[in-house]
Amino acid sequence: MCGIIGYIGEQLARPRLVAGLQQLEYRGYDSAGIALADDELAVFKQVGLVADLDLPESTPQTCGIGHTRWSTHGKPTDANAHPHTDCSGRVAVVHNGIIGNYDELRASLLDHEFRSETDTEVVAHLLEDELEATDDLREAVGAVVDKIEGSYALGVVAAGYDGIVAARRNSPLVVGHGEDGNFIASDVTPLLEHTRSVSYLEDGDVAHVTREGIAIWNEGTPVDREVHTIEWSPDAAEKGGYDHYMLKEIFEQPTALRQAIAGRIDPIEGRVELEGLSIPDGFLEGVDEIQFVACGTSYHACLYAKQLMEEFADVRATVEFASEYAVGSGRNPERTLVVGVSQSGETADTLRALRMASRVGIRTLGVTNTVGSTMARECDDALYIRAGPEIGVAATKTFASQVIVLAMFALTVADVRGELDPRAARKLLENLQDLPGAVQSVLDNNDAIEEVADAYAGGEAFFFIGRRLGGPVALEGALKLKEISYDHAEGFPAGELKHGPLALVTEETPVLAILTDGTRPDETRNNVKEVQSRGAPVITLAAEGYQSDDEVGFDVPDLGLLEPLVANVYLQLFAYHVADSKGRAIDRPRNLAKSVTVE
Ligand code: F6R
Repeated sequence: MCGIIGYIGEQLARPRLVAGLQQLEYRGYDSAGIALADDELAVFKQVGLVADLDLPESTPQTCGIGHTRWSTHGKPTDANAHPHTDCSGRVAVVHNGIIGNYDELRASLLDHEFRSETDTEVVAHLLEDELEATDDLREAVGAVVDKIEGSYALGVVAAGYDGIVAARRNSPLVVGHGEDGNFIASDVTPLLEHTRSVSYLEDGDVAHVTREGIAIWNEGTPVDREVHTIEWSPDAAEKGGYDHYMLKEIFEQPTALRQAIAGRIDPIEGRVELEGLSIPDGFLEGVDEIQFVACGTSYHACLYAKQLMEEFADVRATVEFASEYAVGSGRNPERTLVVGVSQSGETADTLRALRMASRVGIRTLGVTNTVGSTMARECDDALYIRAGPEIGVAATKTFASQVIVLAMFALTVADVRGELDPRAARKLLENLQDLPGAVQSVLDNNDAIEEVADAYAGGEAFFFIGRRLGGPVALEGALKLKEISYDHAEGFPAGELKHGPLALVTEETPVLAILTDGTRPDETRNNVKEVQSRGAPVITLAAEGYQSDDEVGFDVPDLGLLEPLVANVYLQLFAYHVADSKGRAIDRPRNLAKSVTVE
């Protein structure tokens, strides 16, 4: 996720762009840049924070765009920082999103010299070609967005062209109607001190922003977008209007999930294309064990992935706490793959485990959210989950993104090993496509979850139960609740309850149960009855056919093996509201830190 800003009007552009970018820095902060346009184009960009941008003393331009970057394609370097320009230096582009077909587009632009590793740069070169046929930048952007796949919020300026052209698909972009000029931005945060009147662009919109006004087209047809008046104070908007980053990040899941799959799946063919892996031919075919190593929430994502890997690829998979990892004597390093999973890519325990494996010649794959992280740099291969920056200490959106990227990797392994069941693969990929919508339907239920959380917040302890794919989700639900509410919470495989934990269950201990596809819901129902007969209040997250009218519960939409992932979103909201009702420091829980760089 990156931050975009643009301004054209009566005032100098640069101070507005720089101040705006600083307010967008929570969206990414590994590099920054601005492009100022009049008869010429002036571009300034570099690695580091916006405040560190090396700018000349005075810049007279009143039109420009800016960007603060959170790397996805290409490391944080000066060359990869936005804005990107074409070969002639006439056009500058800022972009938030992922262009899925950029490899293909880049291959078609043979006569263009590329200066970065980013997906965005193709847009500048495509525009250069279009501008040979038309002088109208809006028309040129319209033609280019027809060629690109994936997600984008784009801002474009050109030398000698008085205006900014913006376009969006699956990445947020607003336009701001000001008194002394007009704006584009990734969100309203940087606009609030200039204007409260904004319009939200919709997918397929192309906007032409000039000093006089803003005109918008969709599929070539002029459209009106409602002008909204924003009530938020600039302070509240720093978290996008949410009280906490954690809540904001829970609500960002549909977008994060779309980004994770963009350009990577073909549900019709039942195939997955994961970019950038350099695993040698024949390696995955010969692997006899895949070892996942991770900590905390990432560990839970691995427990989910292990089951998918075994089911789809029929290969032995194990999961170890990274802090407990040791290379076993019986393993054949040449036939083992270690997959480290880490949101930050900087967790010391996970890095240690990966280095240990590497030292004995085991091939390593890092699955991370952070481009340029130590994990991404040190592993033989890196796979990005593309969830966007996660600021709240409690991991939320990255759990779902980790699971689905690992699910796509499981299908890749199945494919090369000749184990791919095309029907099952197609079903999983269809479910992946439907996942963002299913998660949105849970988010739309937020008020009802808050009511239930408030009603049960006084529990003495909380237990979470689920079988098979519900097991990791039960553990994750308990972790989320304990870390932000400080209540005692534990997750169990539902069948284990009767082997000990049942002794803890009383009328004061709510039990949250996962009853969906992939979790053996009929057997779990028996465990629900066991706790109900001991008087424990039960809250179910249940798919069609597993709900019961006489208990508190939430419906999980039909989504096959991804249903437990959807149930997890209810558990995140439950934890959030319990903690909120107790006034906890949700984004910075006591004793915890976001990235644990000590062993
Ligand atoms: C829990 C949480 C932690 C992290 C763990 C690993 O909400 O955030 O348990 O999941 O510290 O962090 P990463 O994924 O960055 O390696």
